[in-house]
Amino acid sequence: MKILLIGYGKMGKAIEGIAIKRGHTIAGIIDVQNFADFDKFSNSNVDVAIEFTTPNSAYINILKGLQSNIPLVVGTTGWLDKMPEIQKMVADTDGTLCYSSNYSVGVNIFWAVNEKLAQLMQPQSDYDVTMDEIHHVYKKDAPSGTAITTAEGVIKHLNRKKKWSIDIESITQSDLFIAHKRIHNVPGTHTVRYTSPIDSIELTHTAFNREGFATGAVLAAEFIATKKGFFTMKDVLSL
Ligand SMILES: NC(=O)c1ccc[n+]([C@@H]2O[C@H](COP(=O)([O-])OP(=O)(O)OC[C@H]3O[C@@H](n4cnc5c(N)ncnc54)[C@H](O)[C@@H]3O)[C@@H](O)[C@H]2O)c1
Repeated sequence: MKILLIGYGKMGKAIEGIAIKRGHTIAGIIDVQNFADFDKFSNSNVDVAIEFTTPNSAYINILKGLQSNIPLVVGTTGWLDKMPEIQKMVADTDGTLCYSSNYSVGVNIFWAVNEKLAQLMQPQSDYDVTMDEIHHVYKKDAPSGTAITTAEGVIKHLNRKKKWSIDIESITQSDLFIAHKRIHNVPGTHTVRYTSPIDSIELTHTAFNREGFATGAVLAAEFIATKKGFFTMKDVLSL
């Protein structure tokens, strides 16, 4: 496949390495300094674009990709307020987009187990639940997109939690509290912790490096390149 990389930071570089290892070609690389080159690419010279940039730039990059009929794998987090609009646009333009707040296979399995655990905890009212996430100090959004998806998985099955919150000052019993820490060089650690007066159960995913995200993003690109519609890693991994 001919892949357009949009964003050539930590993730763009990791994806480049994995894509080449899997036999793909990098058709182009778009970053801030050559953003005007974006207009040179369309579905005539690119099979799929992989977008890992910043919360403020993802929306415009997605619009440009859809206008050029390029199937898009989007990994940038922190822009979810625009998701309903983007999903409508994908449908209206007969476009192709895959979004996951985390492309690693391990995290997607963690999410499936997280939902199952929340179902089991629904009748166990002695257990309260909290979450924490740790990332590197350069991460721009908090809580992480992965933490938000994890929290949504808990709230979907646990009636006693109505919404997530990162604000310890205003927390109520029906909020799922997410503590976030920023520590140098941590690619991403997420924990869901159920605590009762007698014991606790913790479910933790720890990323050791960015290879898992990059591999998943390339797998997603291979999966969507010839399809139409909106997809997530659940579709890619048949979870
Ligand atoms: N979904 C996942 O699996 C996953 C995994 C890791 C990171 N992320 C997210 O991906 C995003 C990027 O992460 P990163 O670690 O590579 O960040 P980074 O800061 O290392 O790289 C971002 C790159 O985007 C470039 N950029 C900024 N504006 C741009 C624009 N308008 N057009 C093109 N390029 C632009 C920057 O110059 C930089 O090179 C973040 O939102 C992060 O949270 C998602």
